[in-house]
Amino acid sequence: MHTPDFIIDFRHQFPFFNNQLNSPISQAYLDNAATTHICQPALDSIADYYQYHHANVHRSSHQLALGTSNQFESIRQKTADWLNAAEKDEIVWTKGATEAANLIANGLCESHLQAGDEIIIALSEHHAHFVTWQQLAKKYQLELTIAKLDEQLRIDLQALHTQISDKTRVIALAHVNNATGVKQPVEEIIELATNNNIITIIDGSQAINHMPINVQQLACDFYFFSAHKMYAGTGLGVCYGKKSRLIALPPYQYGGEMVKQVSLTESEFNQLPYKFEAGTPNISGVFALGATLDFLANQNLNKLRAYEHKLTEYLIEQLKKRSAISLLATEQLTGAVSFIIKDFHSADAAELLSQMGIAIRSGSHCAMPLIQSIAPGGSLRVSIAAYTLIEEIDYFLSCLDQLDDFL
Ligand code: ALA
Repeated sequence: MHTPDFIIDFRHQFPFFNNQLNSPISQAYLDNAATTHICQPALDSIADYYQYHHANVHRSSHQLALGTSNQFESIRQKTADWLNAAEKDEIVWTKGATEAANLIANGLCESHLQAGDEIIIALSEHHAHFVTWQQLAKKYQLELTIAKLDEQLRIDLQALHTQISDKTRVIALAHVNNATGVKQPVEEIIELATNNNIITIIDGSQAINHMPINVQQLACDFYFFSAHKMYAGTGLGVCYGKKSRLIALPPYQYGGEMVKQVSLTESEFNQLPYKFEAGTPNISGVFALGATLDFLANQNLNKLRAYEHKLTEYLIEQLKKRSAISLLATEQLTGAVSFIIKDFHSADAAELLSQMGIAIRSGSHCAMPLIQSIAPGGSLRVSIAAYTLIEEIDYFLSCLDQLDDFL
């Protein structure tokens, strides 16, 4: 099998792969769940911002600042459109998915939840969601209920029905799990939650790059992700919240721009979304996201996603042929495949593979509650993007086969 030309063309838009110096270090970059490479238009837009449009936003009234502020807001609109949010003010910029998770959880604890209320979270959550709710549950005396998973590490819907009680206020879970690549049945869960008046918070960090996201169709209350998981830059998160939910949340941080009026004793907070955006935001990161969305809008995303799907299926099929390998899950895998090798600690295998130029992640993938319960030595995770070559997967598989020599 060979990589089709349209993928090679797509890959050429990523300068990392055009830099020959990188090839000996990383012959196969298969760590896209950790971060994707940045596309050329995003890089250009960062330079363009600093060279020609560098000003702070929403502060000064000179022409440069006004132009930059307008562009900044037009990218908020573009992002809202990308997610099919009803309004641009439902998009809050954060410094990453983790800050979004904290913003939502802290806000709900302060405004909506009472001691004894119940939060349902999955064992498979990333620490950004899991640790946040675990710690806030302690602080606010909330009950943390762990949603049961089935054999394929998907949330067990039947069990979830019985786990929901009249005290359940929030269900917090990932659309796609980072440690396993498993896509969760969020549509059904959101429907169940909504019918029971339960707030839903979806971590979309591992979904955003692999499928279209329509927050109105999903009908979740909150959805968040990081820009660097979708070919833009690090340091920017997108936090979507239904307008009524965001209005009801108190600010997460205090400072400039999140206030309208300040006296010696009181502050009146700004309107949405600014009440959540204290301090100078990551303006160049927002510009990079805007350029990335334009770039992606010009691609045939269905074709790219179909290729990713085929690549994942190929990887699963090839791994299944190797008797020393056990996959953590085999169904509904989206962008990532996680596995263990018999008699090999994941860190040792990753180190040997790294010496052969393979970039993958090993260990518990910031999801210790799940991984330590099913793979105490950690797992190896191969994660792909639309620019991943079939030849990279084949090279990885050939290196994997050489690990036998080290046993
Ligand atoms: N959350 C990222 C990962 O899964 C960093 O690797």
